[in-house]
Amino acid sequence: MAQDTFSKEETLAMRRRLIGHSCRLFYSDDPVKIIRARGQYLYDEHGKRYLDCISNVQHVGHCHPSITEVAAAQMDLLNINTRFLHDNMVQYADRLAASLPDKLCIFYFVNSGSEANDLALRLAQQYTQHQDVIVLDHAYHGHLMSLIDISPYKFRKLSGQKEWVHVAPLPDTYRGLYREDHPNPGDAYADTVKDLIDEVHSKGRKISAFFAESLPSVGGQIIMPQGYSTKVAEYVHSAGGVFVADEVQTGFGRVGTHFWAFQLQGEGFCPDIVTMGKPMGNGHPLACVATTVEIAGAFTANGVEYFNTFGGNPVSCAIGLAVLDVIEKEDLRRNATKVGAHLKQLLTQLQTRHDIIGHSKNGKSTIRMKENISKNRLKEQDRICVSTDGPWENVVKFKPPMCFSIQDADLVVRCIDRIITGMCLHPHSDKACSSQVYSR
Ligand SMILES: Cc1ncc(COP(=O)(O)O)c(C=O)c1O
Repeated sequence: MAQDTFSKEETLAMRRRLIGHSCRLFYSDDPVKIIRARGQYLYDEHGKRYLDCISNVQHVGHCHPSITEVAAAQMDLLNINTRFLHDNMVQYADRLAASLPDKLCIFYFVNSGSEANDLALRLAQQYTQHQDVIVLDHAYHGHLMSLIDISPYKFRKLSGQKEWVHVAPLPDTYRGLYREDHPNPGDAYADTVKDLIDEVHSKGRKISAFFAESLPSVGGQIIMPQGYSTKVAEYVHSAGGVFVADEVQTGFGRVGTHFWAFQLQGEGFCPDIVTMGKPMGNGHPLACVATTVEIAGAFTANGVEYFNTFGGNPVSCAIGLAVLDVIEKEDLRRNATKVGAHLKQLLTQLQTRHDIIGHSKNGKSTIRMKENISKNRLKEQDRICVSTDGPWENVVKFKPPMCFSIQDADLVVRCIDRIITGMCLHPHSDKACSSQVYSR
């Protein structure tokens, strides 16, 4: 198969002509053309290697041979309408059930995180017979119209906030309302949700769901304070609503110590609906909603069939199973925990030398502009791809394939150190120095 039919300039020109311009490229000024990949490395059309700190989707590594082998074999044998009975779907659901608390035991397979979240909304509204949704500030839950409506990150730039959507403060103990010096930020932030519920009730409206990522990513990779989710779930349940955990970015062991990021909130907490996607199929479009018998029962009771042409087909589920096998066989959660801790330690050391890291005082546009410069420098000078996130685009995010190594972490931090040092010495780049750097 021809991998590189056109020169980079030709591909770019064709893309500009043929593809909607709202579909943006990384490094839009000088995009990278990648023609093959392996593990945590990407290769451009000249064979130059890039270290990939962006691809959380290629969870167990780009083009992992075990995954491609299983995918090709199942493709060769059978791929068929999901209304025919097949082992792969039930085997996969059974494996997912084993990774989740007992009450999350009913599964719906879909093709993208957006589809999963849209279905979660339907499930919540059908079960509760309420309409209103509470979301966290800056959240993004997907590109469907229903999800733009519950994504402040998007609706603020578009049609605005619908009357059935309510925005709670981001439980951010670094920059938010209650910070690390607060005696109990978990309870304090949960109480903001309680206040919002009271406000909703005072308008004669009712809550169907509290919808949140387990580690809000667009919000700046927020690590929620302990106790927050348990308390919010109590408030939401007593208002007759359900708790939806969006694990589209964070699931499948990406946090290392736990398989699901909501588990960071402790044994006592369990959402009513969990949505999953990105890392699930290692690049193959595969996503899912997990929920309880009661919520699924209410959805069935409306008498309307749920049919999804591609969701849960034999090839997708074979791939999903293979991803779970690789996570276990290669002990990738342990690797993520080890390399994540190492990276965090290096970055903390870096912080002691550059007090600019972790500083939150600077103006928004300045931070964004300067961050883009350092992101581009990492790409151009060191061939390292990282992303930035957060309301001010000043949080450097590391979300590589889980095979990312100690050596990779050492290299990235060495390069960031050199770039920040250079930027701080440079008279026109002094405001560059105001990023939060997280290792998850
Ligand atoms: C937290 C979260 N939820 C949902 C989605 C939507 O997933 P998809 O792009 O697969 O539709 C995304 C995508 O970026 C996401 O980050």
